[in-house]
Amino acid sequence: MAMAARDTDRDLARLDELIAMQERIFISRQPRSAELHARALRSLAGGVTSTWQISRPQPIWISHGAGSHVFDADGNEYVDLHGGYGVMAVGHAHPAIVRAVSQRVARGTHFAQPTEDAVVVAEELARRWGLPLWRFANSGTEATMDAVHLMRAITGRSKIVKVEGSYHGHHDSVQVSVYEPLLDLGPADRPLSVPSSSGIPRAITDLTLIVPFNDLDSVERVFAENEGEIAGMILEPVMMNAGIILPDRGFLEGVRAITRRGGALLAYDEVKTGLTVSPGGATELFGVTPDIVCLAKAMGGGLSCGAIGGTRDVMEHIVRGDYDQVGTFNGNPLAVAAARAVLTEVLTDEAYRRFDGLRAQMVEGCGKTIANQGLAAHTVALGAKGCITFSPTRTRNYRDFLTIDDRFSQCHWLFQMNGGVFLPPWGKAEQWMLSVQHSPEDVQRFLDNFATFASALRS
Ligand SMILES: Cc1ncc(COP(=O)(O)O)c(C=O)c1O
Repeated sequence: MAMAARDTDRDLARLDELIAMQERIFISRQPRSAELHARALRSLAGGVTSTWQISRPQPIWISHGAGSHVFDADGNEYVDLHGGYGVMAVGHAHPAIVRAVSQRVARGTHFAQPTEDAVVVAEELARRWGLPLWRFANSGTEATMDAVHLMRAITGRSKIVKVEGSYHGHHDSVQVSVYEPLLDLGPADRPLSVPSSSGIPRAITDLTLIVPFNDLDSVERVFAENEGEIAGMILEPVMMNAGIILPDRGFLEGVRAITRRGGALLAYDEVKTGLTVSPGGATELFGVTPDIVCLAKAMGGGLSCGAIGGTRDVMEHIVRGDYDQVGTFNGNPLAVAAARAVLTEVLTDEAYRRFDGLRAQMVEGCGKTIANQGLAAHTVALGAKGCITFSPTRTRNYRDFLTIDDRFSQCHWLFQMNGGVFLPPWGKAEQWMLSVQHSPEDVQRFLDNFATFASALRS
């Protein structure tokens, strides 16, 4: 997996020069995006609709998507490996999604009463995750918020445990120690609870206890020091907002055992891993089932849709009305019509076999370039997702991830964008995302750009 560094210092010196050169090309390709952005700055705060749409040197305005491709406002065509931050496993305008959504639109899109599609989606999620009962939400944030509320409602306890560097959405309880710089984090074995955004009261932040990923001793210690006070742990079973960080063997089993022993619940945040790393997400892939699963992103096939699933014991609290899981748009007919098509027509077993083939091509191709150029990098990939990590060794937690120089991924991103491959703008934190509509030729374009970047670095 890892390749030894030949000469990282020389790479670093070259990077700034290459970034400046590629940014000039990038800007010259996108005059219309620049115009739209200038106009947007007058009516949209910061000129975008979410802060994470800002990219350097400027945000890219999209015209449309088709299959595995997207087109920007200047008419540039890209192979889309951004996938709208890990959503578009179905690709763009997939005929099954177009059909399902068009049929639903023509029959009315919102009643705030359930439609039959919701049952089919819940049945299919129950089958894939082995958790019997489900409810819907509209985003990953809403799903993880419900999970945290449920854990507190069921146990009558206030504290929760969260992994340092993990992102679970933008509600107060989980906006703690997300993308903080090393200086703010406190001791590695006793991480501080650092508010990740302004507007989060200290009293809420203090209820979220932080542990490093892949560190069972810390989880054990936090549970021992807060005996009887922890409602549960929210955990992304594979960290996917710090590149891709895999769980060590036994980590998930260990967390499962510790939470049970502590009378606490375990909620998996599968907003990114769900439906992308396997048909039943990380739960199926690693074989450790939590009490609650949170889904969003890929399940809506491009429409806003989230879900929480749970054991009968957990969901009984919703059934009885101890916890009101509510929302005007929950189970919105348009969203569940799309989700039904995603689950029953698009993300079939054959789709996952297709991901396996494309992923193998990605990993093998990247590996060849890394070896040929002696880059200090390696790839990590699961299902439809993967990333190049610019470090010779595997990252095991957020602090390892922080040691990686951001400029490698920024420069690589610019080479890919200028070479017609759209990757997520937040460089080293993000992954590539394949869809069922990608082809080996699409993957080859990515690999060619990576090889061009690597040889520019070494020239
Ligand atoms: C792991 C994880 N959980 C939750 C969320 C929040 O999802 P949303 O942006 O749909 O609210 C994200 C978003 O990127 C995520 O990556």
